[in-house]
Amino acid sequence: MSDNVIRMALTKGRLEKDTVELFENLGFDVTALKDKGRKLILPIPDKNIEVVLAKAADVITYVEHGVCDIGVVGKDTIMEHSGKYFEIADLGFGKCKFALAGKKGVDFYEGYGVKTIASKYTNVARSFFESKGMDVDIVKIEGSVELAPLLGLADGIVDIVETGTTLRENGLEVYEDVVPISARLIVNTVSMKLKKERIEDLISLIENKLQEKTNDKKNIC
Ligand code: PRP
Repeated sequence: MSDNVIRMALTKGRLEKDTVELFENLGFDVTALKDKGRKLILPIPDKNIEVVLAKAADVITYVEHGVCDIGVVGKDTIMEHSGKYFEIADLGFGKCKFALAGKKGVDFYEGYGVKTIASKYTNVARSFFESKGMDVDIVKIEGSVELAPLLGLADGIVDIVETGTTLRENGLEVYEDVVPISARLIVNTVSMKLKKERIEDLISLIENKLQEKTNDKKNIC
């Protein structure tokens, strides 16, 4: 990778869409990103940035190993996959939360038996119950975790809740909020030294734009 290029790993999907919108608002040339087809590495030519589209956990892997200088990834993935990198900024989009949920109308904390918890985020679930000093069995589920309590596999789930629609439409409810989530900008520890100026410039452009947006919202209210 050339010293002048900033390579950014970007989580595919919704965070990708929000990030491209942010860059567009910053006046960057996002033509390649908007017309990407099946390409996975895309240039922002006027800013000498190369965007790598990847799955969330892989964004962390690429940044940690230094093949990407910076990354955009959800706090959910950061919490589940700890690693060595700097978490520099809260990008303010991709907002949702981790919550403990289960069948509607059930008192989750009732009784003394060890509860079974299903989650795609087993580390997050484990540390949540550890912080409560509560012993639970944790079962890893890869997706549609809401099925686990419905099928009788688990007493509760620790999962991402955004609109709450999936829970509602399946007769489930939030028992307790765990932690709010949003998109974060992460930086490789060596890149932070070697490309300090360029990375700091980019961060301050982003932070100013986010601040502008916050001020606009305040003015509307
Ligand atoms: C996530 C999450 C919930 C759903 C929550 O799943 O695991 O299932 O979104 O969103 P809501 O509160 O707006 O309904 P995702 O769609 O990422 O798929 P997955 O279940 O396969 O992980």
